[in-house]
Amino acid sequence: MEQVADCPPRLREAMAYSLLAGGKRLRPVLVLLACDACGGDWKHAMPAACAMEMIHTYSLVHDDLPAMDDDDLRRGRPTNHVVFGEAQAILAGDGLLTLAFEVLAKAAVPAEVTVACCADLANAAGWVGMVGGQVADLEAEGATELALQDLEAIHRRKTGRLLNSSLTMGARVAQADADRLKRLSEYGRCLGLAFQITDDLLDVRGDAEAMGKAVRKDATHGKLTYPALLGEEASLQKARDLIAEASDWIKPFGERGRHLDAMARFVLERDH
Ligand code: IPE
Ligand code: IPE
Ligand code: MG
Ligand code: MG
Ligand code: MG
Repeated sequence: MEQVADCPPRLREAMAYSLLAGGKRLRPVLVLLACDACGGDWKHAMPAACAMEMIHTYSLVHDDLPAMDDDDLRRGRPTNHVVFGEAQAILAGDGLLTLAFEVLAKAAVPAEVTVACCADLANAAGWVGMVGGQVADLEAEGATELALQDLEAIHRRKTGRLLNSSLTMGARVAQADADRLKRLSEYGRCLGLAFQITDDLLDVRGDAEAMGKAVRKDATHGKLTYPALLGEEASLQKARDLIAEASDWIKPFGERGRHLDAMARFVLERDH
């Protein structure tokens, strides 16, 4: 059996550097809360929560690369490629992506739950979701003819699907019925789009120190964002509407959904 100590030290350091740098841990917390809201034991959802954070962290390491958004600051630290070099940063991202599925596959949950979670996460992370969305995001740089529906499609894929999968994986671990799974999926869909809208707004309005990453970069890169297309006020209103819709979807959970409701408010009001 292979040991963590067998991992090349530089690769281990580079993977741990970004994964353990902090961050809000929003997605893994959503996995645990969704499991709990469906009456499951949140501890059983820990492997899925860790796998989700690994995928998210890998997406950030690659998003920051010079060939992508070319950022120097992430989670309050120099970005992975600034510290370890581009080749190591690409490989650290690859390592996190692969480790996520190993952790998920080895979880002590029923085999059908494992299979469903692996398929869910792969779909959300791959060409249907995050990777496809990142391609569309880069292709849209500098574009002038794109409309709101194109922007929404980009945001739903690059950010929304992983948020949505956080909820559905948590529900799957709890072996939730179809109604609960659907409600949490819809909550995640609304939250996911709202999250990227507030990220776009924070790029315009936010403070680099609080956010731990550079701000006012999107306009420089010619990114297609909500504030660029709709203006700040209409973007904020869209985020408000989505958060109200997210809350509505989880109303039937009552008391068990109160933390999810608080998370929705956080996404709207966040300053980082
Ligand atoms: C940043 O995600 C990337 C986007 C999808 C907007 P977060 O804002 O959740 O980043 P961390 O995990 O807190 O660093
Ligand atoms: C990142 O979107 C989405 C993914 C990493 C998949 P952004 O490029 O807007 O995220 P930040 O602003 O760099 O965190
Ligand atoms: Mg990006
Ligand atoms: Mg970026
Ligand atoms: Mg951004």
